[in-house]
Amino acid sequence: MLQIVLAVILLAIVGTLVGFYFAIFVVGKKREKFTFDPVYEKERAKHYPPPYPNGWFSLCSSGDITKGKVKEIEALGQKFAVFRGENGEVGVLDVYCPHLNANLAGGTVKGNNLVCPFHAWEFKANGKCAHIPYSDNVPRTAETKAWTVVENWGLIMVWYHSDGIAPTWNPDSGLSDTEKAYKYHSKTQDTLHIHLQDFAENGADYAHFACVHNLLTIPFANRFVYVKHTLNIEFGEGDKQHQAYFSDTAELVKRSTDQKIEHAGGHATVTFFGPGFLIFRFTTKIANVLLIKTFTPLGELKVRMEDYVYAPKGTPGLMIKYILGEASAQFHDDIAIWEKKNFATKPLLVKGDGPIMKMRSWYSQFYTESSYAQKSFAGQYRKPTAVAEELVEEEAGSR
Ligand code: FES
Ligand SMILES: [Fe+2]
Repeated sequence: MLQIVLAVILLAIVGTLVGFYFAIFVVGKKREKFTFDPVYEKERAKHYPPPYPNGWFSLCSSGDITKGKVKEIEALGQKFAVFRGENGEVGVLDVYCPHLNANLAGGTVKGNNLVCPFHAWEFKANGKCAHIPYSDNVPRTAETKAWTVVENWGLIMVWYHSDGIAPTWNPDSGLSDTEKAYKYHSKTQDTLHIHLQDFAENGADYAHFACVHNLLTIPFANRFVYVKHTLNIEFGEGDKQHQAYFSDTAELVKRSTDQKIEHAGGHATVTFFGPGFLIFRFTTKIANVLLIKTFTPLGELKVRMEDYVYAPKGTPGLMIKYILGEASAQFHDDIAIWEKKNFATKPLLVKGDGPIMKMRSWYSQFYTESSYAQKSFAGQYRKPTAVAEELVEEEAGSR
């Protein structure tokens, strides 16, 4: 009897400690709040590359726009009216009606068309005006901009190109059949005051891992162990030119002996699909987790980031939460730096820094001449391509 009572007490204590741990270090670890100073932010933005690289960007989840629904979504320095007709097709239109600029997202869906709330003009998903209730004549010019849209990974994505050209690549699913059978776990959303290129450069910046990402979220464990990263990044070619592949093998190492602890670490691979999407794959002994991460620029140094988390069926939720907790704690440490940094157009690089300029060179494919005219700061940006090429050569020479 006494043994049972002791076992119950022990279980209660362990349960409480685990609960506290998750409440404090996993769930409760919120990132530092950003203080927005418009003058400083304007100045900071001057040095960064253009705010809207070319590519596919997520507007929202497919499930947010059910049949017959319309929603206003902000992205790429403007607002969109996103709606789904009775035929199941999604239309993405500029939010302001071409007639007298009422907000189309305040309208209604009728059949497969979007009806403006002001004078009830009807627009098809291709932007053409289908009907004006008080006029027999629908002028040929009565149309609004319709954006090229696809649904992939359960997301509604639009194609953005500063020259207005058609998609140069397709966001095919990129998931294996096994992964497609994974179960949806959760979604998180955050607005970051960063340029989305900073995230891409992070993977190529090998030297910061030992400085920023060497600790676990379990504070007492850090007295005995640290995390050692082995990193690699490669860039796609030909029809995969818009892709890049990053991998990180994180091992736990005993501080006393500098020896790694077997089976304690994890492996993460990241596939970049242009500037707006990534697939993270975490492989660890306790669970495998797949994360689709989206970056949608809203304005200069303002990015909406969303994480959609999936795992094999039957994976315990607590294990998924632990892996996500570790990953997001690492990520929050990065964000705290990115939100306060500037963009070094000609960084002072040394051996061991990693292929940062190769990453910049890869990323420069997402900007064209017209990208630089996007904002009032045009002309103050420095074109990265020429600088990047010059420094890639220096990088190669320094090895
Ligand atoms: S403003 Fe849209 S119909 Fe008049
Ligand atoms: Fe980082």
